Amino acid sequence: MQEIILQEAQNNILKKGFLDLEVSPTMDLFLEIEKLKKEKKAVILAHYYQEPDIQDVADYIGDSLKLAQIAEKTQAEIIVFAGVHFMAETAKILNPNKKVLLPDLHAGCSLSEGCPPDLFKKFINKHPDHIVISYINCSAEIKKLSDVICTSSNAKAIIESFPKEQKIIFAPDKNLGAYMNKITKREMVLWNGSCIVHEQFSLEKILKLKEKHKQAKVIAHPECEDAVLRITDFIGSTSGLLNFTKTDEALEYIIVTEAGIIHQMEKNNPNKKFIPAPPENNCACNNCPHMKLNSLEKLYLCMKYEAPEIIMDEETIKKAKNPIIKMLEISKKAGL
Ligand code: 13P
Ligand code: SF4
Repeated sequence: MQEIILQEAQNNILKKGFLDLEVSPTMDLFLEIEKLKKEKKAVILAHYYQEPDIQDVADYIGDSLKLAQIAEKTQAEIIVFAGVHFMAETAKILNPNKKVLLPDLHAGCSLSEGCPPDLFKKFINKHPDHIVISYINCSAEIKKLSDVICTSSNAKAIIESFPKEQKIIFAPDKNLGAYMNKITKREMVLWNGSCIVHEQFSLEKILKLKEKHKQAKVIAHPECEDAVLRITDFIGSTSGLLNFTKTDEALEYIIVTEAGIIHQMEKNNPNKKFIPAPPENNCACNNCPHMKLNSLEKLYLCMKYEAPEIIMDEETIKKAKNPIIKMLEISKKAGL
């Protein structure tokens, strides 16, 4: 509670600052951000779903696992996390003595919001002999209740580090959980959560698009629904999808994940074509509304004023850290 009040206060100061301080349209934000990085010994970590300008100014771009691994090792004094709240929170848990900034504190995640700790506790109590594996897209409170954390790129390795007969609760993403049940041949009990971006891809429209682009391969993130995953040529985390486009011989791909990743795909494969998969309605819902709350202007202001900052109490950090460290250890052993 204290943390929320503190963060809201910071946010208000910052909002007020935004009103007073218009970022001049003539300002070279790339140059100014580079100056701030040096001056403040700060590092910028960005997720692949961030807008292209943010990806271009970042020191590291990655999926949730890679960004957590970099956060664990960084020597920088300030970590600026261009991503969503649970990612910045993970960086803070791994670096309690460092300042961790998030350009917009309201950048949440539907998976995290769809798993309230009080209901999750009751869910765990209903399955007393189960261990809890939680997808990193959850709050620190859920991490505290978990035995180990996973991301989309290490979920298989994390699950398979437990014996086949071990009963498991998997939360909060039911689509990733169902896909993992399928490929690991387990029957994990799934929390009923989903991602608002990945669950809205239209199977019908993807099939129509495939008719038009017969040579295109369909590649998808495992947060998509089973019906979509069944028609894909490849399924992987954001890094997995990017690497696939680098090594695969096809020249055209239909990308069934948040459209931000296409920036790196195009940069790495200038001769290939990437087609964003169409959503159910004619909306821009293949852009994550949380990820896209961050902007280059907000990134600059957050570095200048060192706010909003992720503030967490010691007790939460201590308890949420164990399952994250366990994830990092298993990943290291698995060569991930
Ligand atoms: P990745 O770990 O694959 O980058 O996924 C993060 C995410 O939020 C997907 O929606
Ligand atoms: Fe969360 Fe979905 Fe956005 Fe990823 S794309 S941050 S899972 S809402």
